[in-house]
Amino acid sequence: PTPIILDCDPGHDDVFALWLAAGNPSIDLRGVTTVSGNGHLEHTTRNARVALTVAGVDGVPVAAGADAPLKRALTPATWIHGENALGGPELPEPTVPLDPRGAVELMADILEASAEAVTLIPTGPLTNVALLLDQKPELREKIKEIIWMGGSTGRGNVGAYPEFNAWVDPEAADIVLRSGLPITMVGLNISHQALITESVIQRIAGIGNRTSEFGVELLRFFCGTYDAVEGMPEGPLHDPITVAIAIDRAVASVQRCHVDVETSGEFTSGATCVDLHDMLGKEPNVDVAITLDVDRFWHLVSDAVAQLA
Ligand code: BDR
Ligand code: CA
Repeated sequence: PTPIILDCDPGHDDVFALWLAAGNPSIDLRGVTTVSGNGHLEHTTRNARVALTVAGVDGVPVAAGADAPLKRALTPATWIHGENALGGPELPEPTVPLDPRGAVELMADILEASAEAVTLIPTGPLTNVALLLDQKPELREKIKEIIWMGGSTGRGNVGAYPEFNAWVDPEAADIVLRSGLPITMVGLNISHQALITESVIQRIAGIGNRTSEFGVELLRFFCGTYDAVEGMPEGPLHDPITVAIAIDRAVASVQRCHVDVETSGEFTSGATCVDLHDMLGKEPNVDVAITLDVDRFWHLVSDAVAQLA
């Protein structure tokens, strides 16, 4: 199995990324780290522990990371995810404990202890990953690759151009995009192919375990806010595409190109400038995910949920 660390800000779609990682046999989920993004850190951390508790996943350490972006104040995405970042179901008291280490410390310990290089999967703002690269440069060689949900080849979801995860902490995204490490970017252009249709909801509901019941409540809430805010009653389940790519590269086509993130634009702060047509002649630094095998993706998600509690 592929060893991964999932760095997340749950968030409805982050929960499905966690479940896909925990329920798919070709992934070895070594650790979960949390970051502020969809909600304040206290909420995203609790939500990660709730997601693992509901799914009956124990033995995976969960550590809390940055409680704010590197240089900016956090605006949590309450309009999509609710006040606690996981609106919809009643949240049980998590039994999965919080690791006493911080996120960077846990990531460093996992990387150090691993015989093989580990895949980092961030599904939120890149604050923790940027701090890791800054504080532990000697561990770079232990990072096999980074598969990040964020950015967009086209328009944004928090402004005309910026996508939420890039917009929350563009300075962190800039550090990661310039790191020279292998990066796959899963942006809105592909995540808007993972639409939560009624038949998707029915398929998850049909699994009939505790995880699927909780999951259906999450999906219904999420589609409700997407409908209210973006006029999309079939909301896009962004984050688990990252894990699906780690499981099976064939689930998404990619185009290798140069990507910069705007850190100072008056109207475009947080926009990812994806040079799809090589206008700049700059060295490509990112595999940009383009087309999703939608059927394969939803099969991976529902098969994983069926493996959980
Ligand atoms: C991203 O922002 C968050 O709201 C989602 O969890 C996803 O990671 C989509 O822009
Ligand atoms: Ca997320």
